[in-house]
Amino acid sequence: MTGSSEKPVVIITGASSGIGETTARRFAEGGFNIVAVARRKERLQELAAQLAEKAQVVVVAGDVREADIPKRAVEAAINNFGRLDCLVNNAGAGKWAPVKDTDDDTLNEVIDISLKAPFRFAREALNVMGKGAAIINIGSVFGITSGMAGGAYSTVKAGLVGMTRSLACDYGPQGIRTNLVAPGVIKTEMTDAYWESDYFQRTNHEITPFDREGTADDVANLIYFLASPEGSYINGQTIALDGGWSSTKFVCAEALGR
Ligand SMILES: NC(=O)c1ccc[n+]([C@@H]2O[C@H](COP(=O)([O-])OP(=O)(O)OC[C@H]3O[C@@H](n4cnc5c(N)ncnc54)[C@H](OP(=O)(O)O)[C@@H]3O)[C@@H](O)[C@H]2O)c1
Repeated sequence: MTGSSEKPVVIITGASSGIGETTARRFAEGGFNIVAVARRKERLQELAAQLAEKAQVVVVAGDVREADIPKRAVEAAINNFGRLDCLVNNAGAGKWAPVKDTDDDTLNEVIDISLKAPFRFAREALNVMGKGAAIINIGSVFGITSGMAGGAYSTVKAGLVGMTRSLACDYGPQGIRTNLVAPGVIKTEMTDAYWESDYFQRTNHEITPFDREGTADDVANLIYFLASPEGSYINGQTIALDGGWSSTKFVCAEALGR
């Protein structure tokens, strides 16, 4: 062990951009050291350099589908810091197509990245996690309500809800909590192309009963809260973070012609 074991430690997958990167910044602010996982090594190194004054960030570069990457990430936490307090299973790729238009390669890719990898990271992390630790899976409102072209993406994100409950049930008695954050549409690289469309922006506004768009900071704050002592009786929950989009049939006043 080379680093301080005073600070809590989090593994964040998909920390090279969007929600994962913002979550790393939030955890650094909150006093965590970080193991950052993703394929784009330079982006992770840049993040580590930017956060250096606040947190130690150990970079584990690779694809979450690799057989040994969960072990490498957990070993990085233990070898550098001597502990693991939180796992954020965030890495994911947006692949939207109806079932009939989804071939086996795409189906397997989505399952491997967004369901098998979180399962395997959780399994490895549980070997070293103890009382007070937390696992937070990043699902989607598409795993709750679905939507057009949900296909493999909705199937897998709904699977994560089951995995979250199963982990909560089996490891809650040991003081390890598991929850799932299900964002609505958040501006990141994954959704950049959509936001360029005026029509998309307007539709999103028309069906969301809140007066602004969701941000990666909103998601990072909820993830951080779920990992913190303030969230320490929340276990097995799926929390939608979408301004009320998935829980209402809202249509804004202008769209109703008022
Ligand atoms: N943005 C939204 O509107 C939204 C809504 C609901 C749910 N989500 C979920 O939020 C999570 C983060 O997405 P985001 O919006 O932040 O998108 P993003 O900016 O595109 O980030 C995706 C992250 O996942 C990593 N990743 C993707 N495939 C990977 C692989 N095979 N191995 C390792 N890392 C991989 C990417 O890193 P590398 O490319 O460097 O590997 C990147 O860091 C995803 O699970 C997504 O499904 C997003």
